[in-house]
Amino acid sequence: MRGTLMLTWILIICLSQVAAQSQRQYYSETRPHIPRPIKVTNLHFFMHENLGGTNASAVIVAQSNITSNDNNSSVPFGTLFAVDDPLRIGPEPDSEVIGNAQGLSLLAGTNPRTSTTYFDFGFTTGKYNGSSISMFSRTDLELAVVGGRGRLRMATGFALLNPYLINATTVIIEFDVTLFHH
Ligand SMILES: *[C@@H]1O[C@H](CO)[C@@H](O)[C@H](O)[C@H]1NC(C)=O
Ligand SMILES: *[C@@H]1O[C@H](CO)[C@@H](O)[C@H](O)[C@H]1NC(C)=O
Ligand SMILES: *[C@@H]1O[C@H](CO)[C@@H](O)[C@H](O)[C@H]1NC(C)=O
Ligand SMILES: *[C@@H]1O[C@H](CO)[C@@H](O)[C@H](O)[C@H]1NC(C)=O
Ligand SMILES: *[C@@H]1O[C@H](CO)[C@@H](O)[C@H](O)[C@H]1NC(C)=O
Ligand SMILES: *[C@@H]1O[C@H](CO)[C@@H](O)[C@H](O)[C@H]1NC(C)=O
Repeated sequence: MRGTLMLTWILIICLSQVAAQSQRQYYSETRPHIPRPIKVTNLHFFMHENLGGTNASAVIVAQSNITSNDNNSSVPFGTLFAVDDPLRIGPEPDSEVIGNAQGLSLLAGTNPRTSTTYFDFGFTTGKYNGSSISMFSRTDLELAVVGGRGRLRMATGFALLNPYLINATTVIIEFDVTLFHH
């Protein structure tokens, strides 16, 4: 029964390749996907954000001009930040850099002023050097991982955040990421 099914699929794939050769098209024939076992990997690191001075790692790149409905805040609803934060192995400002988080953070909540982030977390050392994961999520103590590149291709999962330090110039957030990937 299994053998017959396999032969049928092979036949279908062969026939579809013949068809593809005779006529140019931009899509392939749809074929069955044979699932591979999914692996689980945990990542643990600290995101260091510097808000002030010449070495700021998060800067405002666009802003709405409506401040009166927002207590005249300097960062009103509609403020967009470009971010390039180093990821370090520990909370110490001089601990080893293992990657960076690049992307956008938008103050997308009217009241309270919550943000939605579009970040690519790329790694520059170790097994995942050159690989990255995409987070696209409203910012809370949990972020959604919606994809990945390189060795983390097709990753999905979630990141649990622990605010380690937040003051006017420095933000350090601990990330505990669980990834499901091939
Ligand atoms: C900014 O970074 C440069 C190079 O890493 C460093 O020499 C400089 O002291 C830093 N400036 C501040 C204000 O931290
Ligand atoms: C905001 O921008 C709009 C469109 O350019 C303009 O009409 C309005 O006066 C601006 N409001 C403020 C408070 O600057
Ligand atoms: C503006 O300030 C008032 C009083 O501090 C507060 O109740 C309100 O929630 C604030 N509004 C916004 C949009 O932050
Ligand atoms: C914002 O500032 C303007 C001009 O100074 C003032 O008229 C308005 O009442 C302020 N709005 C709030 C919510 O504080
Ligand atoms: C990470 O990969 C880049 C590009 O392949 C390479 O140049 C670099 O030496 C690697 N870094 C580490 C720490 O392995
Ligand atoms: C914020 O915390 C960092 C790290 O502890 C410290 O170096 C910096 O001076 C603090 N900044 C402010 C404005 O308190």
